Amino acid sequence: MKYRRLGKTGWNVSELGHGMWGMGGWSGSDDDESMKALHLSVESGINFFDTAWVYGNGRSEKLLGQLVKDFPEKKLYISTKIPPKNFKWPMEPTFTLEETFSSSHIKEYVQKSLKNLGVAQIDLVLLHGWDDIWAKDEQWQKTVLELKQSGLINAFGLSIDRWEPNNAISAINTGLIDAVEVIYNIFDQAPEDKLFAVCRNMDVGVIARVPFDEGTLTEALTIKSKWPEGDWRNLYFGPENLQPSLDHLKSLKADLPAGTNIPELALQFILSQPAVSTTIPGMRKTENIKKNIIAMEKGKLSDQMIQNLRKHRWDRKPTSWSG
Ligand SMILES: NC(=O)c1ccc[n+]([C@@H]2O[C@H](COP(=O)([O-])OP(=O)(O)OC[C@H]3O[C@@H](n4cnc5c(N)ncnc54)[C@H](OP(=O)(O)O)[C@@H]3O)[C@@H](O)[C@H]2O)c1
Repeated sequence: MKYRRLGKTGWNVSELGHGMWGMGGWSGSDDDESMKALHLSVESGINFFDTAWVYGNGRSEKLLGQLVKDFPEKKLYISTKIPPKNFKWPMEPTFTLEETFSSSHIKEYVQKSLKNLGVAQIDLVLLHGWDDIWAKDEQWQKTVLELKQSGLINAFGLSIDRWEPNNAISAINTGLIDAVEVIYNIFDQAPEDKLFAVCRNMDVGVIARVPFDEGTLTEALTIKSKWPEGDWRNLYFGPENLQPSLDHLKSLKADLPAGTNIPELALQFILSQPAVSTTIPGMRKTENIKKNIIAMEKGKLSDQMIQNLRKHRWDRKPTSWSG
């Protein structure tokens, strides 16, 4: 396993982290299978785990709590997220901080997550969404300092809303942000425009999420793809997005040698970017962990390949279905 520094936290986190949304909330999740996958991750040297209260309303956090208990001798970095009080995504500039991340709400959910995780301190707490119009509001700033002083959290950051990578830059510039989580993959290259430079200047760790565009870059989708009722992917890969996703994948593949391993290329693309500290594919199955470790070990792509992939950038605008 290879490790990188997570910004000013100074932690050495594995380049391949473990995303835990699917095992909390997607259909087809099986806790025994998820625990086996998590164990394999730890045994392989993965030490960064990304969860959230909302991933199964505590289910994913409880799995992570069990994992930490199963490996008392290992330092496993826990990253979890506080949902907005109104439980609405994406954030709207019309929402107030009181409606989303009031001080009492943040503190209440830190306590809930501590309980689910069964730990006395959470390594990294992220707000699960953000609008930069709140950056100068002292309410959240004071809350962060209080939570750190009380020892309940070690580091604090923001999970930046989908397809809005610049919508946290003012908050980062306050100096109170230790790490951000942002969508970055072969399609979503926009964090390279501004965000990564700001993170580097402010020594903020970057957690690159959704490396496979929720599944497009795993090549598992077809035009008939549908999931059981309640699975969020029915919304994301609905009529407006499924065909365009398949079209973008097709055009990517047409530009690459036949037989190119797309998921492997996707992870290598992300890890070729020096601003990225870790990437966190969702992995419920041990076979996917093994494949993703191979990709991580292959390391950076050639400059020529990166240039080729630049053509496949796909800028999208947040919508009601993008979450
Ligand atoms: N902050 C936020 O608002 C937010 C939003 C989205 C995601 N996230 C975080 O980012 C993580 C990653 O995003 P995601 O899980 O939504 O999507 P993703 O990582 O883009 O895709 C996950 C899918 O890829 C499959 N997979 C993993 N490795 C594979 C491989 N080598 N070959 C083929 N398939 C493979 C997984 O299968 P299995 O699961 O069956 O193994 C799962 O179906 C989440 O788990 C979560 O921790 C955060």
